[in-house]
Amino acid sequence: MSDETRLIHAGKLPGALVRTVGPPIQKGSTVLLPNAAALYDDDNFITYGRAGLSAQASLQDALAVLEGAVGVTLYPSGIAAISGMLMALLKAGDEILVVDTVYKPVRRFCDSVLKRFGVKVSYYDAALPPEDLVAGASDAVRMIFMETPGSLTFEMQDMGRIAELARARGILTAADNTWGAGLTYKPLAHGVDVSVQALTKYVGGHSDVFMGSAAARDPALVRRLADGINHMGWAVSGEDAYAMLRGLRTLPVRMARHQESALRVAAWLREQPEVAALYHPALPGCPGHDIWTRDFKGACGLFAFSLKPAPQAAVDAFLDALHIFGLGFSWGGFESLAIWCDPQFKVRGFQRDYGGPVIRLHIGLEAPDDLIADLRGGLDAYADRAV
Ligand SMILES: Cc1ncc(COP(=O)(O)O)c(C=O)c1O
Repeated sequence: MSDETRLIHAGKLPGALVRTVGPPIQKGSTVLLPNAAALYDDDNFITYGRAGLSAQASLQDALAVLEGAVGVTLYPSGIAAISGMLMALLKAGDEILVVDTVYKPVRRFCDSVLKRFGVKVSYYDAALPPEDLVAGASDAVRMIFMETPGSLTFEMQDMGRIAELARARGILTAADNTWGAGLTYKPLAHGVDVSVQALTKYVGGHSDVFMGSAAARDPALVRRLADGINHMGWAVSGEDAYAMLRGLRTLPVRMARHQESALRVAAWLREQPEVAALYHPALPGCPGHDIWTRDFKGACGLFAFSLKPAPQAAVDAFLDALHIFGLGFSWGGFESLAIWCDPQFKVRGFQRDYGGPVIRLHIGLEAPDDLIADLRGGLDAYADRAV
């Protein structure tokens, strides 16, 4: 054989691999099948790399354990997990009820793409009692999409009760559970049909990989979600799946530290004269604390507070005076972040008075005393400009 041919086929494929703690990261679009009969035997063989290889399969198995799911599908980002799940489970003529405090890009997807494909989208007030929400749903409603706590303002909903009532009417429920990360809250155990999360946040934990997941218990739903992935042609890389799996190993210890530090910072903030209100479901006295106490096993590092009303220049001065907190829209990583939220409330249908400008904090893994000192510096700058 010539060099051209020999170089294409030289280099042995490994036989049995030695065992490492993590799965092998296989790279491959082509999958070599063992024999002719396997070529069209999709039930027993992965016939193409887009379906995911070893690291992706390990991550799916581990997430199924975390979520208490029968099957988990992976998407290239958290928003892709939500849009992919919606595209897989809804059709023209259906209606979806979406909580008004939903993560803003979900609203953008619903209003632009879902509507274009003939799905009616209605937003409901997070404060609506489950009985009124489900009783008020039209016969066309196929799904209720929840997020608990709500993005930026942390409204809690009784997801288990909504799921129970919706099921009795043949309505599916789905929840964005990125805050609970499948660890401190388990939507499927509370009867929710599909648990979605942006793995980008706490599961990844290091602010460097995008991915999302959808988990379900009903095998028929799992199949529809997997078909959706296949139809849309989505794939995640082995390297990214491996990174997610690595994050998953330390999720419980990181979450415990995020929770502890965030509660400490929140309790301190509540005592500061510049602060109007705290929005943290795990903090006693905050809205939704009763539901959190009943349904959640813990919290994370993300919460919000409002400042007493002051000119915009004071809010900017607060943020610009922070040295440890970065100004950034993400969360779930090891680092602390802050944003001013109010511009994002404009799209909401149900407006609330939060007591003043709303600041969302992500409390990272830094020492809480250092974070408190940084926030005090920010509040001093705020007070200087507030007069
Ligand atoms: C609640 C929530 N869901 C989903 C997402 C989307 O995740 P991703 O950035 O991976 O698309 C985010 C991102 O900020 C989020 O905050």
